[in-house]
Amino acid sequence: MIIIKSSEEIRLMRESGKVTAFVLRSLAELIKPGISTKDISDYVEETILKNGMTPTFKGYNGYPAGACVSVNEEVIHGIPRSSRLLREGDIVSVDIGSTWKGYVSDAARTYAVGAVSDAARRLIDVTEACFFEGLAFCRVGCRLSDISHAIQSKAESEGFSVVRDFVGHGIGRDMHEEPQIPNYGKPGRGPRLAKGMVFAIEPMVSAGSHEVEVLLDNWTAVTRDGSLAAHYENTVVITEDRPEPLTLE
Ligand code: MF3
Ligand code: CO
Repeated sequence: MIIIKSSEEIRLMRESGKVTAFVLRSLAELIKPGISTKDISDYVEETILKNGMTPTFKGYNGYPAGACVSVNEEVIHGIPRSSRLLREGDIVSVDIGSTWKGYVSDAARTYAVGAVSDAARRLIDVTEACFFEGLAFCRVGCRLSDISHAIQSKAESEGFSVVRDFVGHGIGRDMHEEPQIPNYGKPGRGPRLAKGMVFAIEPMVSAGSHEVEVLLDNWTAVTRDGSLAAHYENTVVITEDRPEPLTLE
């Protein structure tokens, strides 16, 4: 069942989303060569807590940190480590969630560390563009897989592939609610979208093959072929006309 949120619930999710968006934006200045993935996660946790909210990920299914920090071929769920120092030319995906009065917002960005290759820059930009292609279908009357199809079409038209083993999702009191939202598929399938649904739309795009594997830490998902991957995610409210992303400033 897809839970429809009341305007009061959406108001709380909007407040949560503001902090998530602020933290992600401030990371753009913090992320530089020499910083560790743990430094990033510590900043995320401290800033969410300073704003009176709770880092959603910490302790979620035993996850040990307040952010997922995934470098280069790591797609998602990279566990922060003080020994993992970022280097010029790396790309790093940071995925975070804030919980406020029982409601969750979830979002991710991929950042360039110093100067990166043109190929890496293009992957980051296309992944973001994939989100916006999907966003255009976050409207009453569209079908769920219209979002999926739009994301896949954009990624593949740019010569990239979308990861299939992980999906976007409904979000609200729980970080993961129904429905699952794959980043690929035929259009015109699945439930019709209704006002008050809230979704985390999150394209994960590989510069090579879409195949991923999970490392022995049981969390970190990497591309099987070692190619670069990027992730871009926002929490979005379905409306009659213009969708409302809650985690974008
Ligand atoms: N943001 C991720 C998602 O969209 C969840 C992170 S997993 C966690 O599914 F365990 F770290 F929370
Ligand atoms: Co998510």
